[in-house]
Amino acid sequence: MEDKKRLFSAIQPSGILTLGNYLGALRNFRLLQDDYEGIFSIADLHSLTVRQDPAVLRKNTYELAALYIACGIDPERSILFVQSHVSAHAELSWILNTICYPGELSRMTQFKEKSRAHEDNVNMGLMDYPVLMAADILLYQADLVPVGADQKQHLELSRDLAIRFNNRYGETFTVPEAFIGKTAAKIMSLADPLKKMSKSDANLNGFISIDDDKDAIVRKFKRAVTDSENEIVLREDKPGISNLLNIYCAVTSKSLAEAEKEFEGKGYGDFKLKVGEAVAEVIDPIRIEKNKLLQNKDYIDELLKSGAERAEKIAYKTLNKVYKKVGLVPRKRG
Ligand code: TYM
Repeated sequence: MEDKKRLFSAIQPSGILTLGNYLGALRNFRLLQDDYEGIFSIADLHSLTVRQDPAVLRKNTYELAALYIACGIDPERSILFVQSHVSAHAELSWILNTICYPGELSRMTQFKEKSRAHEDNVNMGLMDYPVLMAADILLYQADLVPVGADQKQHLELSRDLAIRFNNRYGETFTVPEAFIGKTAAKIMSLADPLKKMSKSDANLNGFISIDDDKDAIVRKFKRAVTDSENEIVLREDKPGISNLLNIYCAVTSKSLAEAEKEFEGKGYGDFKLKVGEAVAEVIDPIRIEKNKLLQNKDYIDELLKSGAERAEKIAYKTLNKVYKKVGLVPRKRG
């Protein structure tokens, strides 16, 4: 474990996760955890940047912990913890705020999109979101950060802040690389294939939730918006069919050429049914396992407790180094 490079990623507990979160992020976490020392977090502090019902946020935090494990994250080998349990995240984010400029944050695509979506609650946390994200990553000296394509810009800011800090105060942070999968980095809405699949979509037919059963999954795929042709190929002017092909390849591990050949001459109806069934085959066992795990909250609490203890050791080592570099006097103890 010691010689392995380190991987960090996090997911917000701000709703039931979608097929997009699974294919763009969680699935890669599982695949990469053999080759990296994996550190995975539940980004509850990030979730507070949009209004949350406190009871629902607590429930979603457990849901996400169970989901990580159901998706194959091994809590013995990897570290799984809740972001707010390790206060170093908030502390480092303050220091990084002092080297980050408002213009860098106000031009972030996600900030602009979320400001439009939550017009009545454009708070400082929403704007500062990427700085907290940089703190998450840099605290663990992560080499690799697997994320979906929508997080690329945030990752670039994390790199910029690491480099800026290192230049100003001397070598302190590892500069992280993003890992963005090739096929499933941006799963699109089934109802509007020009929009990202998102758990906050008001149209329930737009996204597949991890909690959807086989019937719901197949029904949503049957309704998926496509086009008026009948050719099943990946092409820019066919965003609906291209999205379904991408999803199919990701869940079956088939190549695009194999998938296109398989559906040559077939109608859209058959194709949508096949994609829905293939997705259900992957999601069903995950949902069942997650719900089983959720019945044992004590087990989850125990895992998160030990995860936070392990994470904290690494995080405070970095934070102490940072405090020293910037000139803060260390507190005398004992
Ligand atoms: P969140 O919770 O919004 O998304 C979690 C992960 O899912 C990916 N994702 C998608 N991938 C493909 N297609 C989609 N339609 C789709 N929708 C979401 C996201 O890219 C993400 O990888 N800010 C992060 C959480 C975070 C984080 C971090 C990530 C907090 N700190 C440090 C990495 C490192 C986020 O977007 O979460």
